[in-house]
Amino acid sequence: MENLYKNHFHLEPPRGLLNDPNGLTYFQGNYYVFHQWNRFDLNHNYKEWGLFTSKDLLRWKHQGSALLPDSDKDLSGVYSGSAIVNEDKMHLFYTGNSKIDGSRRSLQCQAISEDGKTFQKSNSFIITPEEFTEHHRDPKIWSDQNGYHMIVGSQTKNGYGAIAYYQSIDCKEWDYQGIFYTSEDLEQMAECPDYFELDGESLLLVCPQQRDLESDTDISSYSAYYMGDIRDNEFYPTSEIQPMDDGFDFYAPQTFLDPKGRRLMWAWMSRMNSKEEAACPTKDFGYLHCLTMPRELRVIDGKLYQLPLQEILQSRKKIESLETVLYESEELATQSVIDMTWSKSLSSIELALFDQNVTLEYKHQKLILSRKSWSDKQVHTKTIPLKELTALQIFIDSSAMELFINKGERVMSLRYFLQQEKRSCDIRASHQMNLSYSKLES
Ligand code: FRU
Repeated sequence: MENLYKNHFHLEPPRGLLNDPNGLTYFQGNYYVFHQWNRFDLNHNYKEWGLFTSKDLLRWKHQGSALLPDSDKDLSGVYSGSAIVNEDKMHLFYTGNSKIDGSRRSLQCQAISEDGKTFQKSNSFIITPEEFTEHHRDPKIWSDQNGYHMIVGSQTKNGYGAIAYYQSIDCKEWDYQGIFYTSEDLEQMAECPDYFELDGESLLLVCPQQRDLESDTDISSYSAYYMGDIRDNEFYPTSEIQPMDDGFDFYAPQTFLDPKGRRLMWAWMSRMNSKEEAACPTKDFGYLHCLTMPRELRVIDGKLYQLPLQEILQSRKKIESLETVLYESEELATQSVIDMTWSKSLSSIELALFDQNVTLEYKHQKLILSRKSWSDKQVHTKTIPLKELTALQIFIDSSAMELFINKGERVMSLRYFLQQEKRSCDIRASHQMNLSYSKLES
């Protein structure tokens, strides 16, 4: 059976279930994207770190397993974490998860590599400070002139999401400094925090999670960010909490600074509930989930922008460029980019892809993305208020799509699964647009 869902520019595991991107770094000439991986099965019962590497951010190789749950500190899973390069050694920080007599224990652990191929777990570890429950995980590390910094996603003993802050002077011994940030916004648990400075602003990324939902076995969570300042080891937001992505499938993003000085981000391209995951058609081919494309983050005029990677844009082969109000095609390629710009703000647009499987509508200053579910067969929608629409760029892979709105002011990510090759596209705009359609090189 041919695999119609196999993506070309979204990283997918060779087999098994992939979730969060971990340990993003550049080391000895290669980009490293580690990831949460169950290489044995299509469920979440086992977690190790798998690894993709690349020299150019375009061609990736899966290197198999990197960190296994093989010590008493991490027997129930090597959970998410990050990387830092220090004195030409790669340091990986992760959460060792173990369940002893049914109760959870989380330790923040470290592994070191000199060659980027073998990873030596170190004996030191951090135990959870008194004020948190054992939902304490996903260490993110950075360094500056004051030393090394670590934030860890957590839950306070009275049940709120919180982020813990640690410091180190030698990248080995860590001292707990207190709560970096907590608020009701963080619901009942804060997963996968990230912090960085960009274009003169400080950003905190976090995934607030609601855990005790009565009727649903699924945990509800989403990925968000704040802008703010650090004072006395605490983060003070200057903005409201904002969603990172306004589509259906985006979670657990992580960023790092690449050698070109760019803040690059990958995320897990899934927010599927358990029914959607169970019905996901790639299971027939032995794997589940993918990562988003890498995005470059920028802050422009006080706003966060997410931009598609230059390298990917440069790999486009331009096929068609036209001025039109209408664009119809029966055969949209699986690796394509549609680019639309309007010289003045648009009053409406309707875009239907793949026999109405995915639609996008802009009207009355609202952008509405709809997707027919492969699980309950219903149409689900995501709506965002948007004062004006001046540019839309859509990256279409075989079963993943990312929509960059107004040059990255907002992004909507989603998976879609077509039973047959119905790759039609129908775009109707209220105003003349510059439209270009290109294919991406594989
Ligand atoms: C987020 C997450 C992390 C955890 C990992 C386990 O998706 O729940 O908090 O470390 O996945 O796979």
